[in-house]
Amino acid sequence: TYVVTDACIKCKYTDCVEVCPVDCFYEGENMLVINPSECIDCGVCEPECPAEAILPDTEGGLETWLELNTKYSAEWPNITEKKDPPADADEHKGEEGKFDKYFS
Ligand code: SF4
Ligand code: F3S
Repeated sequence: TYVVTDACIKCKYTDCVEVCPVDCFYEGENMLVINPSECIDCGVCEPECPAEAILPDTEGGLETWLELNTKYSAEWPNITEKKDPPADADEHKGEEGKFDKYFS
């Protein structure tokens, strides 16, 4: 599966949802997650994300994000249409430590 990592937090560009053939993105207040049991591993979302927030879990070291994607995709609503990112999205692109600072 592919997973959304903390690079998405406060960026939420949502380019990813437009290209997913199985509509498996779910939206929280500050970030999106993928439902790992729905993702078909097509990989088309990875290059679409301007924040480079999406990675294949085969990269290793992504267990924390896999768990987070699994947990929250069961709780948050599905998102299938692109929408405007937050006004300050570009300021948070590439910022370190976003999970501890902003995730709630
Ligand atoms: Fe959707 Fe493909 Fe990305 Fe999985 S890898 S979330 S199926 S676009
Ligand atoms: Fe997040 Fe990138 Fe999608 S910033 S909303 S994973 S395009």
